[in-house]
Amino acid sequence: MSAVTIRDLALDFVGATTVRALDGVDLEIGVGSSLALVGESGSGKSTLASVLGRMQPRSASVVRGEIRVAGIDVLALGTSALRRYRRDQLAYIAQDPIGSLDPTMRIGRQLQLVLRSTGQDASTSRQRALLEAMQIENPDRVLPLYPHQISGGMAQRVAIALAMCRKPRLLIADEPTAALDSQVREEVVRLMFEQARSLGTTILWLSHDLPAVARWCDEVAVMYAGRVVERGRAADVLGAPVHPYSRALAATDPSRVRRGDRLASIPGSPPVLHGESAGCAFSARCPVSVAACATTRPQPTSARSSLCIRTDELLRRDSEQRDQDQEVTA
Ligand SMILES: Nc1ncnc2c1ncn2[C@@H]1O[C@H](COP(=O)(O)OP(=O)(O)O)[C@@H](O)[C@H]1O
Ligand SMILES: [Mg+2]
Repeated sequence: MSAVTIRDLALDFVGATTVRALDGVDLEIGVGSSLALVGESGSGKSTLASVLGRMQPRSASVVRGEIRVAGIDVLALGTSALRRYRRDQLAYIAQDPIGSLDPTMRIGRQLQLVLRSTGQDASTSRQRALLEAMQIENPDRVLPLYPHQISGGMAQRVAIALAMCRKPRLLIADEPTAALDSQVREEVVRLMFEQARSLGTTILWLSHDLPAVARWCDEVAVMYAGRVVERGRAADVLGAPVHPYSRALAATDPSRVRRGDRLASIPGSPPVLHGESAGCAFSARCPVSVAACATTRPQPTSARSSLCIRTDELLRRDSEQRDQDQEVTA
């Protein structure tokens, strides 16, 4: 069974001008696996993460589609069922660690309340153990502190402890390390994944950090202009991407660029849609687009995971190129 199934999900932000933030998302995440959602800013990652918990802003309106988490029809839940769903299934870790904690409450008190609300042992020794599990060296010094008194890295560890002590089925982490420096970042990601793996929690990780994604995630979904344009095993999508946008994105990854080479950036910027995209939303920036790309909306097929009408052609060209390279070296 899959932990998350999203089918043709479309969502608008309604205002003076309507923005189509999700334009037909299809996504599946297996139970206990980890999937990274990658893509430039504005591609719809945070919107997708928020609607999974029905936490999207009021101005958001779901146009069509379906979300199932552990078999639950998320968009159909009533108020009390929604509360239960959030409590029993979900945990969410946000980008700003200090802002995600309650500023008026000591760390220990926040842990105590979460433990109590889920009927667990809420004693000081249990609070201490939770912080120790997050490699916080002196928990007795940290428990009585307020969020503004601790560092960003420490706050994010506390946020992970708060999220994971409820033993969620699905952890959604929206760029949880973007505000941290690189050393702390690695440690926080490692702790997050270790905790989730030991509990069998499914992870949806929104990230810009492609090297870390390659290291930690089973699968990758690439988002562009409100659609998942390619998805598959992390090694495949990052190592041998098929969709032209995934190829462009992978080429911006600093770890793939040889020393001395210039880091590529994708020319132009993603479009802001005001309704359903008629064709492929990447076509205007795409180095291999043809006239049909602007008018033909690529449809998901079971045979391939790339939303590009030229996928077969591009794959054929790749293999011809490989053959030629072999002839040259032979
Ligand atoms: N509260 C909002 N009101 C109006 N538009 C929004 C709101 N939040 C996001 N958007 C728009 O939705 C699109 C997707 O944004 P977002 O989900 O934040 O992308 P990402 O997380 O990938 O950077 C963008 O065009 C963004 O401007
Ligand atoms: Mg975001």
